[in-house]
Amino acid sequence: RKPVTVPSLRAMKTEGRRIVMLTAYDASFAHQLEMAGVDVALVGDSLGMVVQGHASTLPVTLDQMVYHTAAVSRGLRATLLVADLPFMSDRDTAHALEAGARLVGEGNAAMVKIEGGAPHVLEAINALSVRAIPVCAHLGLTPQSVHKFGGFRIQGREEAAAARVLDEARAVEAAGAELLVLEGMPVALAERITAAVSIPTIGIGAGPHCDGQVLVLHDLLGVTPGKRPKFSKDFLQGRDSVSAAISAFVDEVRSGAFPAPEHCFN
Ligand code: KIV
Ligand code: NA
Repeated sequence: RKPVTVPSLRAMKTEGRRIVMLTAYDASFAHQLEMAGVDVALVGDSLGMVVQGHASTLPVTLDQMVYHTAAVSRGLRATLLVADLPFMSDRDTAHALEAGARLVGEGNAAMVKIEGGAPHVLEAINALSVRAIPVCAHLGLTPQSVHKFGGFRIQGREEAAAARVLDEARAVEAAGAELLVLEGMPVALAERITAAVSIPTIGIGAGPHCDGQVLVLHDLLGVTPGKRPKFSKDFLQGRDSVSAAISAFVDEVRSGAFPAPEHCFN
């Protein structure tokens, strides 16, 4: 398998080959992603919830992100490694650059992900990308904004809100983002955004029309405590190994079988 690169992700969008992204937090599971042919491994700050047991992603520190990113990188070979910028590392551009430098330099990430489309985020995206740190943007239900949203709520349901998210998508692309995660939004909005930008979109709870899909590993394996989120699917159900579950996710994303209507918001 040829290494997945930032330019090869864009080629996948152009050629209509769906991109498979999955989270990982340690080297052993990263190796499982690698073996299953997952295109992109994301060290998500979701680790604050599924690994640390917090109620949100907000307590995760940059040191913790660097630690997990470095561990995941040791389990990968051809899979592209993306790491989240944790809460408030975008407080100003200097902090965003420092965080990006550590996730790439110490963590061995090839790309960093940042939430939102506010002016200071656009400035950080530009500052990182001109310094050759590729950026994945993240719009819609951005979990670091949980208190502002008043919970983990679907975004962009009303036309005015949808138009704002569409504007943000164009803005993050113009600022230099090279990948775009769309989370928790109506199917039709994610479809419009995917058509409007030339960078690949990766959906989670955003319907089947994105250029790729991402899930949280613990949701895919059915081990996240509490109620399973509507947009996720337990791929271990009816299968006898972690590798079979991850391979099934890879197959269903590539074929378009996942997400099905029951995983989507309208
Ligand atoms: O932290 C995370 O796992 C994420 C994905 C859900 C996109 O940001
Ligand atoms: Na995240």
